[in-house]
Amino acid sequence: MYVTVLPSLPLSLLRGPPRGGLGQAAAYAQCFYRYGRDALHVGLERAGLEKGDIVLMPASMCDVVLRAFVHKGILLRLYDRDPALPMARELLSGLTCPRTRAIYVNHDFGVESDLGAIRSFCDEKNLLLIEDCAHLLSGSRARAGRWGDFSIFSPRKLLPLPDGGALRWNRDAPPSPVLGGTRDTGGLLKLLAAHLALKGLLPIATLKSWKGGAEDLLRLAPDFSMTSWEPPSPMSSTSIALADRMDVEGIVTARLQNYQLAHEWALRLGEKGRPLYKEAPSSAAPFSFPLVCEQRDKLVRMAASHGIYLEPTYNPPYRNVPGLLNPDSVFPVSERLARTLVSIPIHQAISPRLMRRLLKLLDKSLRT
Ligand SMILES: Cc1ncc(COP(=O)(O)O)c(C=O)c1O
Repeated sequence: MYVTVLPSLPLSLLRGPPRGGLGQAAAYAQCFYRYGRDALHVGLERAGLEKGDIVLMPASMCDVVLRAFVHKGILLRLYDRDPALPMARELLSGLTCPRTRAIYVNHDFGVESDLGAIRSFCDEKNLLLIEDCAHLLSGSRARAGRWGDFSIFSPRKLLPLPDGGALRWNRDAPPSPVLGGTRDTGGLLKLLAAHLALKGLLPIATLKSWKGGAEDLLRLAPDFSMTSWEPPSPMSSTSIALADRMDVEGIVTARLQNYQLAHEWALRLGEKGRPLYKEAPSSAAPFSFPLVCEQRDKLVRMAASHGIYLEPTYNPPYRNVPGLLNPDSVFPVSERLARTLVSIPIHQAISPRLMRRLLKLLDKSLRT
């Protein structure tokens, strides 16, 4: 078995009829790009954010998100947030100043949060709200993507696609779409290979363990660099054609079911671990199941020996970002979660039977 948090591509999907899945995946976004970071760059341009403006940013955001701001000379002030609690305005009110232009909010792990309080805070203070839905697959019942002045998505994380990012612009006329993406046959073959490996038909897990496997996942050094910033590019024609064949509502249901199985399992772990969220979500589909586990690194290594590649997902704060206004602050919640959180795969290519098997192996790993 070889399982990661990213979904693999069953061959049967190549034969399905077109279903219009891409728009549904990204809450009916208007513009598609190669990555979510491209959508963010375009959104910042369109919103008119400029050099010297200040944006409040969760302390856990990854470097690819931060780069879009640094590239424009935007200053950042990090804030600490417990993703398991509703996002309250008190969290932010002491952090704004006259130069603050926007608040960035992430639906962590793709578990949808209610941003009503923050939306009204932004309206009162005349601030932009940037909503990050990169970890979330929107279904018809989800509200996510509609809170922000603009929101970004990364469908490539939730659908088996070689690439894919999207922008939903909620203010006035959306930016023009970018077309002209080329084919990505190599990306398609990798996703098919990952599916064969999931079924135990290709020894990717063995090859990965020879190359050090889990150690790569645990190497979380928050050292910021701008070296790999690239200008936005269009989504590949391969991803557009593939996404169009996907039944997004079916995928949302499958992910929510797997999440529920993981949630019930984690509630029985006692001091070995616990779900980050008290309740399992029921509308948008999450990226992964977040487990809080003091023995996180040991679990990641043990799981990898069974071919299950868990992902830490929650970044420690990047303190050496150019233009960061509070590099010396402490972020107790984000720092603790960066050490103890792990993402368990729940994607749609994992059948309920395989999900139970996977949880059994994780259980064994935790109790060893
Ligand atoms: C929370 C979050 N937002 C945005 C992004 C950017 O998405 P992409 O990798 O498609 O650019 C990522 C991932 O890298 C992410 O983890």
